Amino acid sequence: MIVRDAVMGDAAEISIFLEELASLGKRNLPSDADYVRTHYIGHADKIQCAVAEDEDGTLLGLQILKMASEGNAYGVDVGWGIIGTHVRPSAVRRGVGKALFAATRKAAVDAGLSRIDATIGATNLEGVSYYDAIGFETYKTLDTRICKCFTVT
Ligand SMILES: CC(C)(COP(=O)(O)OP(=O)(O)OC[C@H]1O[C@@H](n2cnc3c(N)ncnc32)[C@H](O)[C@@H]1OP(=O)(O)O)[C@@H](O)C(=O)NCCC(=O)NCCS
Repeated sequence: MIVRDAVMGDAAEISIFLEELASLGKRNLPSDADYVRTHYIGHADKIQCAVAEDEDGTLLGLQILKMASEGNAYGVDVGWGIIGTHVRPSAVRRGVGKALFAATRKAAVDAGLSRIDATIGATNLEGVSYYDAIGFETYKTLDTRICKCFTVT
């Protein structure tokens, strides 16, 4: 597995596994390729958008790190990072998420971030366990969401 920056040409394949996650009830946001291009790979607040790729070129997962800007949808303090992680359902528990975060953490250091927010559905046990495992800690709970924070070191 390698981890690299996502390029626009990855959008269609990323969209396929986002649709899979949606059909499993693990995603509520749009999953089409245009959304991937505008909200992830080409977003103005993007710090890094990394993909993990198998030896045969199959994309296994995506992790986005954005800068929290004024009026961001998650209500995160301006200047924090905001992270999102999406792993192809057939590739979970193989260390894809961990490998993606090694690259994202480096990008956060390079960008001078001090904190990263991960906002997760309160019933999303795999998401909560994943962020716990990579060093995030709960700092806020909302009605249906848990907000976790990583202190960048
Ligand atoms: C959550 C998610 C990103 C984890 O990705 P992953 O590639 O499977 O994670 P890794 O294999 O790197 O696992 C790292 C650690 O996280 C924890 N973890 C991951 N999935 C878990 C699960 N289903 N149950 C319990 N712990 C889990 C474990 O501690 C794991 O280490 P271990 O396998 O050595 O025990 C992936 O399941 C996913 O994309 N889910 C759907 C979308 C989502 O919920 N995203 C996160 C919220 S935005």
